[in-house]
Amino acid sequence: MRILVTGGAGYIGSHTCVLLLEAGYEIAVLDNLDNSCEESLKRVKEITGKDFNFYKVDLLDYDDVNEVFNKEKFDAVIHFAGLKAVGESCAIPLRYYHNNITGTLNLCDIMAKHGCKKLVFSSSATVYGDPHTVPIKEDFPLSATNPCGQTKLMIEYILKDLYKSDNEWDIAILRYFNPVGAHKSGKIGEDPNGIPNNLIPYVSQVAVGKLECLSVFGNDYNTKDGTGVRDYIHVVDLANGHLKALEKIATKSGVVVYNLGTGTGYSVLDMVKAFEKASGKTVKYKIAPRRPGDIAECYADPTKAREELGFIATHTLDDMCKDTWRWQEDNPNGYK
Ligand code: NAD
Ligand code: UFG
Repeated sequence: MRILVTGGAGYIGSHTCVLLLEAGYEIAVLDNLDNSCEESLKRVKEITGKDFNFYKVDLLDYDDVNEVFNKEKFDAVIHFAGLKAVGESCAIPLRYYHNNITGTLNLCDIMAKHGCKKLVFSSSATVYGDPHTVPIKEDFPLSATNPCGQTKLMIEYILKDLYKSDNEWDIAILRYFNPVGAHKSGKIGEDPNGIPNNLIPYVSQVAVGKLECLSVFGNDYNTKDGTGVRDYIHVVDLANGHLKALEKIATKSGVVVYNLGTGTGYSVLDMVKAFEKASGKTVKYKIAPRRPGDIAECYADPTKAREELGFIATHTLDDMCKDTWRWQEDNPNGYK
């Protein structure tokens, strides 16, 4: 099977490319390198010893994307390409709506034109808004609290409408919880631009001495220690979920939706402690006000993915922290 991976140079995409190549898939990557660099793909080739085509193409450029489909025939597309920073999406919403939605509309239109109607889409737990209870099941009410989340929700609706209009499509919508960690080799990992927004990249930069002190956003939530609780999932487990989803849509599944999480919630302070243990470093932190838009608790009920995909996250919290730390220590400046 030949797979096009949009956004394949990015964090989750690069890890998924490794697993796809190791599983014997042929791949090509399409990415505009807006939030990544080609070095990650070079390292994917080093890890796997396999080669593939890379197209530096923007999904907003219809003709260029169409040209990629003229050159190669794909059986399915895994669609990671998108902008993902919640705070930035509030500051520049039009760019987020245009990039994520128009990019996906272009992609689906071109896929249909070329008779490629199997798609795996990167959605997010953010589509559950502020859930009434946890763990979160796939049939919980959907809402979004920021433009980035809105684009995920809108794309989910677009993909469902697309299937209603043409049952030849098979689409897996994957709602990720909090991806962390890095490949065991230490060669690929998360390489955020500037000061990280997400917890684990921030913590690892404090541990390596690049940043002074972590601000813990709120310790007065109704959680076990007052700090926010999330479902952290190792990026290699998450990547593996995409291979399971590909197998599922190969069976004429229609539209399917799955949570990709572990089912276990850890607090911010749990994560700090676990990272200190894995790295042998002290992570200095201070309690700061709550971050606007944050919720107290968010973790998955992973039953549906386990039962229907055979998806089980196998990496432990210690694996997540150790692998992040190896990547951080070996690449203190990311891919630069
Ligand atoms: P990332 O930024 O590392 O990767 C996304 C890739 O898409 C980047 O390489 C970027 O250059 C590329 N891209 C963006 N717009 C493009 C366009 N118009 N044309 C071509 N390429 C484009 O992000 P990631 O963490 O790997 O996330 C992958 C996907 O998963 C995104 O859609 C993101 O919204 C979603 N997601 C991520 C998280 C998370 O916490 N990392 C959580 C939930 C969902
Ligand atoms: N946190 C801190 N200090 C920091 C950063 C984060 O205390 O410097 C806390 C947050 O308040 C939250 C937890 O750490 O309680 C996790 O925060 P992240 O920013 O790492 O992750 P979020 O759960 O806020 O959001 C992430 C992605 C979203 C995605 C969501 C679900 O950023 O895009 O996971 O997949 F939608």
